[in-house]
Amino acid sequence: MTLAQRTSLNSIPAYRQGATPGAAQKAFKLSSNENPYPPLDSVIAGLSSELGTINQYPNAAAPELVGALAARLGVEPETIALGAGSVEVAGQLIHATANPGDEVVFAWRSFEAYPILAHVAGATPVMVPLDADGAHDLAAMAEAINERTALVFICNPNNPTGTVVDAAAVDAFMAKVPAHVLVVIDEAYVHFNTARDSAIGLDFFRRYPNVAVLHTFSKAYGLAGLRIGYAVAPPAVAANLRKTAVPFGVTALAQRAAVLSLEHEDELQVRIDDLVTARESLLATLREAGVTVTESQANFIWLSTGDDTEAVDAGLRAAGIWARAFAGEGIRISIGSPEANAAIATAVISALQEAPAHV
Ligand SMILES: Cc1ncc(COP(=O)(O)O)c(C=O)c1O
Repeated sequence: MTLAQRTSLNSIPAYRQGATPGAAQKAFKLSSNENPYPPLDSVIAGLSSELGTINQYPNAAAPELVGALAARLGVEPETIALGAGSVEVAGQLIHATANPGDEVVFAWRSFEAYPILAHVAGATPVMVPLDADGAHDLAAMAEAINERTALVFICNPNNPTGTVVDAAAVDAFMAKVPAHVLVVIDEAYVHFNTARDSAIGLDFFRRYPNVAVLHTFSKAYGLAGLRIGYAVAPPAVAANLRKTAVPFGVTALAQRAAVLSLEHEDELQVRIDDLVTARESLLATLREAGVTVTESQANFIWLSTGDDTEAVDAGLRAAGIWARAFAGEGIRISIGSPEANAAIATAVISALQEAPAHV
């Protein structure tokens, strides 16, 4: 007898993790936009003292972290909902808003988890192509909204292209969004965003009753391995996020590390500034060498390699750069250590020269 199974899962791909180089090769893993810096000493010390409590469940309400976040962000504690990484909260947001068959609109290409999460929640993903510059086409996204739309993701900066949406463009978009639709501004990379005109999620959350913001401790705070992220959402939505969360998904260790990170934001800011400087210098080096590369406001860069993608990616791998390639579209490379960034520049320039379309 065959086991019962949900047949719709047959058409859903599993989430693909960034590739990791084997131990034999001297290589840089730059495929998951991780923070190249080790955890702060203060975070490690704080976690060590917490280890003795792992025989107990965490406090699901996470009062210390929620209080610290509310104070830091200037929002009410009831608007904060935590999850095991912001990807879990993104899933909760769909579960909390979409009835079966309802639509979830987002730009494409964007964060790979969006279509998977929408399908798994029983919703229908509606993917609106990015414009020619790899940026959100907010006018087309507004047109894609209808009475079935439950939620819209705006990924700012966008993964994998690194582009941002202007505040004025998001205001114009919001004017066209019906009141029943929740607009989620996913700011996983917000700390690296130095664009002056960019939309800032919390500004929109404060000004519109149907906006939520997604933040993570994985990227700028370097806690990807502990899995902790959160939404700032209208109170009724945040309450439903708590209902859709996996009970005890956010560990006490993750909560503690997040609190400690907030207490040491000045130390983390030095690292963030270094990563932004490294990004700008890498972009400048590539441009000086004649490489066309998209402006990025995240901790990665994007090469629109189109049909050359596989060939260029193979060249990068041979040079020890393990990036994230999207066949036929382009390659995303995370900003890494100074050594990795120097290796990226050399590898990209030579891999592009050797790609079929360039010989
Ligand atoms: C745009 C975006 N949102 C959310 C996430 C999820 O991050 P995490 O679950 O580690 O918080 C990622 C991770 O790569 C991302 O790129």
